[in-house]
Amino acid sequence: MHLMLLGCPGAGKGTQSKFIQEKFHLSQVSTGDMLRAAIRANTPLGQKVKVIMDEGRLVSDDIMIQLVKTRIKEPDCAKGFLLDGFPRTIPQAEALREQDIHLDYIIEINVPDEELIRRLSGRRIHPGSGRVYHLLYHPPKAEGLDDITGEPLVQRPDDSEETIRQRITIYHQQTEPLINYYKQQQELNGTKYRRVSGLGTEEEVRDRIFSILAATAREKESGRSFNR
Ligand code: AP5
Repeated sequence: MHLMLLGCPGAGKGTQSKFIQEKFHLSQVSTGDMLRAAIRANTPLGQKVKVIMDEGRLVSDDIMIQLVKTRIKEPDCAKGFLLDGFPRTIPQAEALREQDIHLDYIIEINVPDEELIRRLSGRRIHPGSGRVYHLLYHPPKAEGLDDITGEPLVQRPDDSEETIRQRITIYHQQTEPLINYYKQQQELNGTKYRRVSGLGTEEEVRDRIFSILAATAREKESGRSFNR
């Protein structure tokens, strides 16, 4: 299965990716995590993208397309993958299509802008593992510390209110056109586009997504027994 999560910054793509990855045994391809790892390792790519990311702008399509093309050729992606944060522009989506990568599902997680700001300004992360917390919605057991390692949690540099607003604006301008793009792909090649509400608890959103994916698994299974 090839799946993509679409949604504004803070909609819960990373949070839901973890649930989906565990249940459906897909490899998560998170472009944001890949870029942050490059910044931590101070690679030439990391040096190139740091300022762009800190300012909440998008990294160039050329860089992102090359990064993802290489990543999805790795052996763990052969069993299926979950794209989180890619594609984010029409040229990125076209690049996937040119590679003959068929996406089975686009799931858009929809959350109103004011709630996104609350979520992102309260987000804290554990840099070593990428574990995500929220000061109110998902607090760590001990204030400011990771539940597993006890190491300090940090705020992402792009989670200041001004940068969050800039990221949300860019999403509406450059990424939202993908909704119509994939609705058209649904007509042309069977890619399924579904929108779920991202409001409610993490588990409520998870169950909405799981019920969509389970319905397809059942359809595939009944198609198989019918053809036997
Ligand atoms: P990226 O890391 O992809 O960031 P993003 O898309 O802005 O998304 P976020 O990670 O901020 O949010 P999320 O939807 O994953 O939410 P989360 O689950 O953490 O990209 C970062 C940057 O990299 C970009 O700005 C760009 O510069 C660059 N980049 C990456 N990909 C690129 C591409 N393809 N092209 C160009 N540039 C690219 O949840 C947020 C918070 O809410 C957490 O605190 C969480 O605990 C909480 N939460 C989650 N679900 C719920 C819930 N149901 N109820 C209450 N709280 C919740």
